[in-house]
Amino acid sequence: MNVKDKVILVTGGAGGLGAAIGKCLAENGAEVYLLDLDEQRGAGIAGEIVNSGGRAHFKKIDLTSEIEWKTVVDDIVALSGRIDVLVNNAGINIRKPIEEMSIDEWQKMMLVNTGSVFLGCKYSIPVMRRQGGGVIINTSSVCGLIGHKYTPEAYTATKGAVTLLTKAVASRYARYGIRCNSIHPSTVLTPLTEVFLQDPERRRERFDEVPLGRLATVEDVAYAVLYLASDEASFINGVSLPIDGGVTCC
Ligand SMILES: NC(=O)c1ccc[n+]([C@@H]2O[C@H](COP(=O)([O-])OP(=O)(O)OC[C@H]3O[C@@H](n4cnc5c(N)ncnc54)[C@H](O)[C@@H]3O)[C@@H](O)[C@H]2O)c1
Repeated sequence: MNVKDKVILVTGGAGGLGAAIGKCLAENGAEVYLLDLDEQRGAGIAGEIVNSGGRAHFKKIDLTSEIEWKTVVDDIVALSGRIDVLVNNAGINIRKPIEEMSIDEWQKMMLVNTGSVFLGCKYSIPVMRRQGGGVIINTSSVCGLIGHKYTPEAYTATKGAVTLLTKAVASRYARYGIRCNSIHPSTVLTPLTEVFLQDPERRRERFDEVPLGRLATVEDVAYAVLYLASDEASFINGVSLPIDGGVTCC
């Protein structure tokens, strides 16, 4: 799948899924920018990519800050000349049911999980329009498609918003050559989930809900992003792609 020489931004690039997505895209010839708060981990992953012959950079950013988004996008355009693909992947989960969650926690989740996607689109779309097109891939979740019984309501609400923000961008900006799709992984073992997956009951629940009988891997997700980012996906726009072993089909 062709992503060779594409300039690709991956938010949350220091995290479990973001690092795997960044590595996969770089292995396939892209120039990757990892965007994250965690400088130590992010710079380390960019270094690993470079040491294995790929092209990668790390940019420290608070993805909820409008001024930082503007600065980072300006820097990347100054350095690499364009933004071909934006992967809005960063997210958090405050694991509390609605009865226990404060409005501040709700707002924090909305700001990180949905606000960062809004800001990424806001500052990348003008660049993509100027260059004649681009691709946006937003990481939602199975929780952006169903009311998932094991997941906090606030997380589900943030991911549902990402699902429809994706379709709204896809319908408005297709005329400028911009495709926008969302991905919807089921449970993947990453730093976001490893703590609760240590609880045997939580682990069993997550295995039992998957018709294919296993958790998703970071590679399962990275290959879906590789496809959506590639030229081969040039007619795929506005889709919500589950990567869930069938969780949302039953
Ligand atoms: N792991 C799963 O089971 C799973 C399933 C479905 C969807 N997702 C989604 O996939 C995405 C990635 O999840 P993950 O499992 O890799 O999580 P992770 O915790 O491993 O990584 C998330 C990264 O986002 C960064 N980040 C968080 N807030 C930030 C901010 N304000 N500014 C900059 N960086 C920030 C963190 O530093 C971290 O590196 C998230 O959107 C998550 O909701 C994960």
